Amino acid sequence: MRLVLLGPPGAGKGTQARMLRELAGIPQISSGDLLRAAVHEKTPFGLEAASYMDRGELVPDDLVLNLIDTRLGAADAKQGFILDGFPRSVAQAEALRAMLMKRRGKSVDRVIALNVPDEEIVRRISGRRTCTKCGAMYHLVSGPPRKPGVCDKCGGELYLREDDSETTVRTRLNVYNATTRPLLEYYGGLGVLRQIDGMGKPEEVDARIVAALDGLIPKTARAKSARARGN
Ligand code: AP5
Repeated sequence: MRLVLLGPPGAGKGTQARMLRELAGIPQISSGDLLRAAVHEKTPFGLEAASYMDRGELVPDDLVLNLIDTRLGAADAKQGFILDGFPRSVAQAEALRAMLMKRRGKSVDRVIALNVPDEEIVRRISGRRTCTKCGAMYHLVSGPPRKPGVCDKCGGELYLREDDSETTVRTRLNVYNATTRPLLEYYGGLGVLRQIDGMGKPEEVDARIVAALDGLIPKTARAKSARARGN
């Protein structure tokens, strides 16, 4: 399954991609995580990307496309993938189409767009804490770690992302509305788009997504999703 998760910052793309990765057994490919790894390594590429990310602006296409093309070529992406945060513009969607055609003559199977109101986005992002070691995510109010500042899964330190200040989040929302939102029309026109209510508990959102993926993931995965919700 070749899946794209769309949605404004803080809509829950990363949270859902991680849940789906477990269910479907295919990798999550997050452009934001790939960029943050380059920033962390302080490569020339990472240093250039950081200046855009810190302002909440999109990193130029030539930097991002190369990163995604390389990642899509990895062995674990052969059976499918979950793209989280890419594409973010019609130009990137066209580039993705060309990358997939070049490799296997395939296209994106489904695009899930998560709808979440702006005030909930600000609430989610301001409370988000991420593990420096394993990338697990928490929310100070709705999903806190057992011990403050420490990851339940690996004991790593939790941090607040540099681009999660309220001013930068507002810029990211404006960028989403101006540049990424047109993808709803683009993928709607291709007949692969499903719009999902992103409100409610992560497990409830997951169940809506799994229902919208009917036919694309095995029945066993759907049963596992239902068990996680206690059904
Ligand atoms: P990126 O890392 O992709 O950030 P984003 O799209 O702004 O999305 P977020 O990671 O902030 O949120 P999310 O939707 O994944 O939500 P999450 O699951 O974490 O990009 C960062 C930057 O990199 C960009 O601004 C840009 O500069 C650059 N970049 C990235 N891709 C690019 C591209 N393709 N081209 C150019 N530049 C690019 O959830 C958020 C919080 O809410 C968490 O605390 C979580 O626990 C909580 N939560 C999740 N679901 C729920 C729920 N159902 N109920 C309650 N809380 C919830």
